Amino acid sequence: MVITTYLCSLSAHIIRMAIFSVSLQIALPLLVITNATLIKKGWDTCHFGSVECECQKVPDNLLKVDCSRRQLVKIPSLYSNVTWIDLSNNHIDNISVGFPKIVGYIDLSGNRIHHLDRKPFRGLYNLKSLNLEKNRINTSLMYKGLFADLHSLTKLNLKGNIQDQFKRTIIKDDVFSELISLQSLKIDGPTNVTFGKGFASLSRLQKLDLSGITGNCSFKRISKNMFLHMPRLIYVDVSACDILDIEEGAFGKLQYLEHLDVSHNKQLGFASLPNITHNLNNTSIKSLRCNEMNCLSGIGTKILKRHFENLKHTNISEIYFEKNRLEQLEPGALRLLPNTIDIISFGENKLTQGRYMIDFFFFRNIRVLNISVQLRPPPYPESIFETCAEKTDNFDSALKELHTPKECVKEYQASLNSFIYKSWWHGKIIGTIIVPKTLEVIYANMSRFYGIAPEFGINATGLREIYVQDNFFYSWNGPIYGVENIEIADVSNNYCSYISKSIMKYAIGLRILKASKNNIGKSLASDAEGEIFENTVSLEFLDLSYNNIFYLSTSMFKNMQKLRTLNLQNNQLSSWRVKVDHMKNMKYINLKQNKLTAFDKKSRVSFGNLFQLTNLTIDLSENQLLCSCDSKEFLEWITRHRKHFINFEYYECSSSSSHKFNFSDPDVSAMLLSKSCKSYQTIYIVSSIAAAFLSSIIIGITLVKNKWKIRYVVYKFKQRFRKHKGYFTNFQSGTPCYEYDAMISYSPKELSFVLTDVIPRLENGAGFKLYVKDRDEPVGTPFGETIMEAIQNSRRVVCLVTKSYLKSKLQDYELNMSRMEAIEDRGNLNFVHLILFPDVCNVSISIQTLDLVRQECFTEYPEEQCALDDFWERLRSIISKEFL
Ligand SMILES: *[C@@H]1O[C@H](CO)[C@@H](O)[C@H](O)[C@H]1NC(C)=O
Ligand SMILES: *[C@@H]1O[C@H](CO)[C@@H](O)[C@H](O)[C@H]1NC(C)=O
Ligand SMILES: *[C@@H]1O[C@H](CO)[C@@H](O)[C@H](O)[C@H]1NC(C)=O
Ligand SMILES: *[C@@H]1O[C@H](CO)[C@@H](O)[C@H](O)[C@H]1NC(C)=O
Ligand SMILES: *[C@@H]1O[C@H](CO)[C@@H](O)[C@H](O)[C@H]1NC(C)=O
Ligand SMILES: *[C@@H]1O[C@H](CO)[C@@H](O)[C@H](O)[C@H]1NC(C)=O
Ligand SMILES: *[C@@H]1O[C@H](CO)[C@@H](O)[C@H](O)[C@H]1NC(C)=O
Ligand SMILES: *[C@@H]1O[C@H](CO)[C@@H](O)[C@H](O)[C@H]1NC(C)=O
Ligand SMILES: *[C@@H]1O[C@H](CO)[C@@H](O)[C@H](O)[C@H]1NC(C)=O
Ligand SMILES: *[C@@H]1O[C@H](CO)[C@@H](O)[C@H](O)[C@H]1NC(C)=O
Repeated sequence: MVITTYLCSLSAHIIRMAIFSVSLQIALPLLVITNATLIKKGWDTCHFGSVECECQKVPDNLLKVDCSRRQLVKIPSLYSNVTWIDLSNNHIDNISVGFPKIVGYIDLSGNRIHHLDRKPFRGLYNLKSLNLEKNRINTSLMYKGLFADLHSLTKLNLKGNIQDQFKRTIIKDDVFSELISLQSLKIDGPTNVTFGKGFASLSRLQKLDLSGITGNCSFKRISKNMFLHMPRLIYVDVSACDILDIEEGAFGKLQYLEHLDVSHNKQLGFASLPNITHNLNNTSIKSLRCNEMNCLSGIGTKILKRHFENLKHTNISEIYFEKNRLEQLEPGALRLLPNTIDIISFGENKLTQGRYMIDFFFFRNIRVLNISVQLRPPPYPESIFETCAEKTDNFDSALKELHTPKECVKEYQASLNSFIYKSWWHGKIIGTIIVPKTLEVIYANMSRFYGIAPEFGINATGLREIYVQDNFFYSWNGPIYGVENIEIADVSNNYCSYISKSIMKYAIGLRILKASKNNIGKSLASDAEGEIFENTVSLEFLDLSYNNIFYLSTSMFKNMQKLRTLNLQNNQLSSWRVKVDHMKNMKYINLKQNKLTAFDKKSRVSFGNLFQLTNLTIDLSENQLLCSCDSKEFLEWITRHRKHFINFEYYECSSSSSHKFNFSDPDVSAMLLSKSCKSYQTIYIVSSIAAAFLSSIIIGITLVKNKWKIRYVVYKFKQRFRKHKGYFTNFQSGTPCYEYDAMISYSPKELSFVLTDVIPRLENGAGFKLYVKDRDEPVGTPFGETIMEAIQNSRRVVCLVTKSYLKSKLQDYELNMSRMEAIEDRGNLNFVHLILFPDVCNVSISIQTLDLVRQECFTEYPEEQCALDDFWERLRSIISKEFL
């Protein structure tokens, strides 16, 4: 009764599943379709003629329209209340149709516009932003009046329109002079570009972007007067323009200039710096970008004092000199930089040690120092095939500095001593580095720093963030003093295999620690008392992923009340013992790719408590969750709390699980598991009894089936045993040489036949040596042995199979042992030959015998007298025939 209800519920479940999967199959494509047409929040579809776009209502009954990426070939006829149009990335080539008069924003980038004839922007008095990027507009063909009505235009983008940089393109200043409100101009910089007198009318022009990174820029030269008519520029970007020469003071006239970018003009070289920076003291310069102003490959470069000289009296705050093969700076060069310096970046160079390093200590207001990514090889193969020759200084004053004068060494030593000195820390004298008080951030990742982190102090009250990931700090010994204020530390990927218990003793302010991709699992495992993280009470984010962690003690994170995120992805954890009860802010624990099988009861209670307090989520994917009756409670628990487990439906049972558990249908799985485990004990008892019973049957069957084989093997074993003791001497291995030509196996009733027919015919007549039991059996040997010996000493066994033969146990034994000998030792069933007498026809033959018959190892004894001679002749030939 119970079973039937169970089966019913099971089948109902199966049907439910089937329905579910069918509905899923129907639902999935629908889901995909709705996804594809999913529109932005707050936007609706709308139609302009046959064109479907997305629209958003904005105040004053106006409309924003997004018709981008719709393969339109012409502008749809838009309503007059459209104020914002995105037509980017279509195939539009003719824009003479006109736009709504009210429009303020037009994006036509990524189309195929050639011609701007018929004044397409006529009457657009409200247009503020016009984007014509990536079309095919030839600025040489622009005509006066084209922009006449664009009184309000503040932003114009014409980049990426040059198709052929070798054809002459000019920027007509009289056309642009009409854009009286223009503030930002992004335009290609064609060869021999000039910005004529007309630009003087653009009294609000602040931003000029000619960068070749986002467009086409190929002028080779910046003349002294290039920006003469644009005196109000604040932002100038001439990066990636293939510039060879910059005339002295070209930027010095731009009184309001704040941002200057001359990066990616690889042939300028540091030698151009004096011309670039000339008169910058007459500007408002704040940030100067000189990244990649040297060729990719070559020997290291050097910044000289004269390169920075002109910056001395500026108020510049940011300088970027990345990707310059920079190896050294002339000592004192950095000290020419004004005290307003806030950010310095020397990333992606090949800096080596030198006296210049002392100069870093002199910065009074530096906040961010970037010396990351040093000594990285230049990109291959560009670096080999580039045709590039940077400008170099004719004289290298630094050469003279190669051998430092004696007094310099002294001075150097003195200043070094004032920055690296011994200081008292907690009653100990420790080597200490003084870092400018203002320094907040150090980027020194991927800088090929190699060594241990020893015991030292750092006098850096302002330091908050330190990034030293991707170096080779392979052992974290410490303790490091003076790090109380550091909040963020990234020490990932440092090939570190040791972390001492004291290294973070003073890191009481640390909020974020990234230490992934090291190998500190062993050190952590040996920290039974949780001393490593004892004092990092402020930690909110801890990343220990990819660290070979196989064990974490209960008190590992005992003082981390503030922890919010714990990442332990890809470690070797097989059990979870860490106490978490106190982590009331915990939001996310990543335990992905570990070897966890389950949480024990204690952890479940702890996590359960946390689930009540915070919306903690745990990721247990790609673990080896055990699905068996032992972990039943865990599985039920995790099912109950599944909304706290990320990717729950993708969890999988380990291969060692005894049960199945489908995490995408956990309730049913849990129910089934529970049911199957409830009767587990009874099943266990019943099944073990059944198993015992079954195995005895199987053994019995096997024994019966292999009766003869077993007897044979036992005999052989005994024989070998005896042989070792020296009893058995009549045995030669290797060449088979038998005492008898044939052994005759017969039932006692046939003795007379043997004596009257067999012996005279075969022994006397054919000269074979026969073994005849009643004649040749040695007296006194136990039964069975004589038979086996005889079988082994005979080349053949001939069985005279009669009715009484088949019924006799002894003869059955003889026959079967011969057969085994044939199979096991001689490797051929022909060893046994049966002579079937006529009276066996109606007697049931054993399987073994049948086997022989089937192999045609028999001869029938003829009933007719006349056939007798033939029969004996055949028998003779069979006995004499070698079968091996
Ligand atoms: C814009 O104009 C069209 C047609 O003139 C009208 O259907 C639509 O409701 C207007 N949209 C708004 C937001 O007023
Ligand atoms: C652009 O379209 C207008 C009106 O449809 C047409 O008169 C003009 O010839 C077209 N121009 C080009 C270059 O196709
Ligand atoms: C742009 O127009 C000018 C003047 O017609 C012509 O000389 C030049 O080749 C054109 N440029 C391109 C890239 O077609
Ligand atoms: C640029 O100017 C130089 C010298 O004035 C001239 O030889 C060259 O042809 C010009 N290039 C183009 C594309 O106008
Ligand atoms: C112009 O710039 C665009 C965008 O950077 C680029 O795709 C195109 O190849 C450039 N054209 C030429 C002639 O350099
Ligand atoms: C600096 O500018 C002057 C002219 O203003 C020029 O003669 C000189 O070659 C320039 N120097 C470099 C290194 O470009
Ligand atoms: C800028 O520096 C130059 C020389 O480096 C000097 O002649 C000039 O007077 C300085 N101008 C200002 C405004 O400081
Ligand atoms: C510096 O700028 C002022 C105007 O602010 C100007 O009068 C002066 O001539 C400039 N000096 C140099 C050397 O360019
Ligand atoms: C730099 O700032 C100081 C103080 O604000 C000011 O007196 C000086 O004129 C500025 N110098 C330049 C070159 O802008
Ligand atoms: C750190 O340096 C300041 C001076 O900049 C000094 O007063 C202070 O004693 C130093 N602290 C330690 C611990 O050396």
